[in-house]
Parts: sequence; structure tokens; C-alpha cells
Amino acid sequence: MSMNIAIDGPAGAGKSTIAKLVAKKQGYIYVDTGAMYRAMALYLHRQGIDPTDQAAISAACEKPDISIRYEDGTQVVLLDGENVNGLIRTEEVSRMASLSSANPDVRKRLVALQQKLAAEADVVMDGRDIGTVVLPDAQVKVYLTASVEERARRRYEEQKAKGLDVNIEEIKADIEQRDHQDMTRETSPLRQADDAVLVDSSDMTIEEVADKILSLC
Ligand code: DC
Repeated sequence: MSMNIAIDGPAGAGKSTIAKLVAKKQGYIYVDTGAMYRAMALYLHRQGIDPTDQAAISAACEKPDISIRYEDGTQVVLLDGENVNGLIRTEEVSRMASLSSANPDVRKRLVALQQKLAAEADVVMDGRDIGTVVLPDAQVKVYLTASVEERARRRYEEQKAKGLDVNIEEIKADIEQRDHQDMTRETSPLRQADDAVLVDSSDMTIEEVADKILSLC
């Protein structure tokens, strides 16, 4: 049986940084499920679909082929065979992903792909519903969070370092809105699984958080 580590939590809690580090230390594959929702969102955006039109999203989401490949240990998301890694972090795609990931038909397709990956290999998988829905039997489950202020500060520093002109209050408001959307949606809302270990990274370093998770393995 493969080993599965599930890491869920809100945007900006540091899930991907931590999941990558834990995967490297354990020799597991890191599966970024948010990137799959983003690839689907890119497809829907390219089709000119209105992000609030759930019927149109349901009809369109059956069409694209979304798959994952690993190149030198890095996850590459393929949308109909095209490597879209560099195209899925834009504002439009984030907004579409946030709305389209609430659609049950979108989730059904991507959850099936995620479960297949986890059955075939030892994985560290991060997302919003991994411990609750995708991998309910994962051997290790972590709910990773941090205060809204700290998450906003991290995103602010990250974007400032990229030379972007950013406003911390706007980032904070955006994070609060995404949290609300992710936690209140009807299908697979973000919540801590009953058997998940809560880790609040507000006052922890990356190494400390990774060590904490490794101690659970
Ligand atoms: O983690 P991220 O920002 O890349 O995720 C993109 C969007 O997909 C975000 O709105 C949350 C959603 N998502 C989800 O609903 N379920 C997951 N397992 C992963 C991400």
C-alpha cells in the first residue's frame, strides 16, 4: 500500500513550500492539487466561460484532458498535452479557479485523477479537501494554517520581492474573501478533518513546520 500524507489549509498558509520539503525529505512525490483546479480554470477561461455560470462550467469541464507529469521531480500540469505551469498563476485564472472549484462536476473529475496518483505512488498531496474527501485513509493528515495577518504579510513580501507594486490591505481583503469562498461552498468545503493534526505556522519557521510533520510520519 502506498504512503499518503495529506496537507490541507487556507491560501497562503505555506502548504506548497512545506509539502515540497516533506516530499523531498521522505522521497515521495509532491502532488499540487490546486494546480489541477487552475489548469481546468485556464481551460474554462480560454473558452470565454463566465466564472459565475455553473451550468456552462459543468458542460465544459468534461472536455479537456488534464494530466500530470514529473520532470526532475517537478510537477508539470498538462492541459490537452500542453505544459501550462507558467500560465496558471494569473489573477483571472485564480478567480476562475476559486469559483469553478466549487462545481461538483469539476471536483469529480479532478478528485478521480488525484486518487489514482495517490494509489500508484507515495505522495504528499496538498489542497483543501485531501484529508476529508480525496484521501480519507491517508496515514498522516495535517491542517496547516496561519493568521490572516501573517498570511497577508508573507504574500506581500513574496510579491514585493518580485518587484510588484502591492498593497498589504488589498492582499488581506483578498485572502479573507478566498477563505470565505473556500470554507462556505457546498461541495467539499475547506475544513479540518477530525483526525488531522492542526499546525499553526504563524510563529514557526519553514524548517520547524516540516520537522513537525516529519515527526508524525
Ligand atoms: O491552492 P491554490 O491557490 O493553487 O488553489 C487554487 C484554487 O483551487 C483555490 O480557489 C482553491 C481550489 N482548490 C480546491 O478547491 N481543492 C483543492 N484540493 C485544491 C485547490
